[in-house]
Amino acid sequence: MEKAVGILKQKNVKALILSPSANMFYLTGFSTFPGERLLVNILTDTGENIFIVPKLYESEVREKAEFTQIYSWNDTQDPAFLVKEIAERYGLKGCSIAIEETMWFTAFQKIYTTLQEVTYVHAGEIVGELRQCKSNLEADKMRKASRTSDKALENILPHIKAGMTESEIRDMLEAEMKKLGATGPAFQTIIGSGPNSAQCHYGTGDRVLQDGDALVMDFGCLVDNYCADMTRTIVIGEASDKLKSVYGILKRAQQYAIDKVKPGIKASEVDFAARKYITDKGYGEYFIHRTGHGIGLEVHELPYITETSEVILKPGMVFSIEPGIYLDGEFGLRIEDLVMVTEDGAEVLNQFTKELIEIK
Ligand code: CO
Repeated sequence: MEKAVGILKQKNVKALILSPSANMFYLTGFSTFPGERLLVNILTDTGENIFIVPKLYESEVREKAEFTQIYSWNDTQDPAFLVKEIAERYGLKGCSIAIEETMWFTAFQKIYTTLQEVTYVHAGEIVGELRQCKSNLEADKMRKASRTSDKALENILPHIKAGMTESEIRDMLEAEMKKLGATGPAFQTIIGSGPNSAQCHYGTGDRVLQDGDALVMDFGCLVDNYCADMTRTIVIGEASDKLKSVYGILKRAQQYAIDKVKPGIKASEVDFAARKYITDKGYGEYFIHRTGHGIGLEVHELPYITETSEVILKPGMVFSIEPGIYLDGEFGLRIEDLVMVTEDGAEVLNQFTKELIEIK
């Protein structure tokens, strides 16, 4: 919170207004599902930390969020009066205000109709900056989430075989994550077989696994509120020569990108390392997405590892490196690990093998 206040002052932003979100949880220790009742946290550039909460949340906020002033309202009231009171008390009118990007319009409406003449900026410019670099405590949670994901795949691998459906594998994998102590999956698990493996954000379906299928498994555990995200592609039965050769190119490209990671370089250099190799080998047009994304409390957060990113890597940043090659109607391959930037290089959080596995 102190750091956030520092950034507010530096950017000349009067206050940060958050609705329930990862940003709210990160800064205050409290969050909940966004809903129709107005619930916001306001952090001012003088360090005042204020919650406007529906009465039914009051005790929970008091318990979980520290150093907080709480203004509550009940279901017979319109909370606009509290926004007005706070805006007047802390001089929020006519200033620059940072707003949670995912705030519901109904909540934002209460704020903008009261504050008026305000310049709005994204909360990500304040909190997103901070969330990029993980503390030691966060780093430990992220290691645990990734190790648990590695282990879940290791445990179910011997049970994968031709004749099963994609959703059976998903169910088995997600049950294993929970058995190993994860809260559950950090995002919708992708189990894409055969031609489905070529659809990058495919979910799962009822397709039955057949000999020769590529099987993309993109998943991650949620552990202590922190997300893991990994992808391994295996083959049911024997891999064709073409698949083996494309896999070899992808695996090497992914390693080149990992090898590039260290503090001081641009995120785009990491993307370039993987993309250039894939392009040189003739598959550039089949690598149709960025190389990676930051991860932490959310599966996708700053920094993004794209061709054009000017972000300079700093110790504590955690992001995925997940190049893929997708041959429409044929097969798709993706390999994904999480890496953490260290003082002089990178720590790969995943340890599951990247050798091509054939299930025979
Ligand atoms: Co990912």
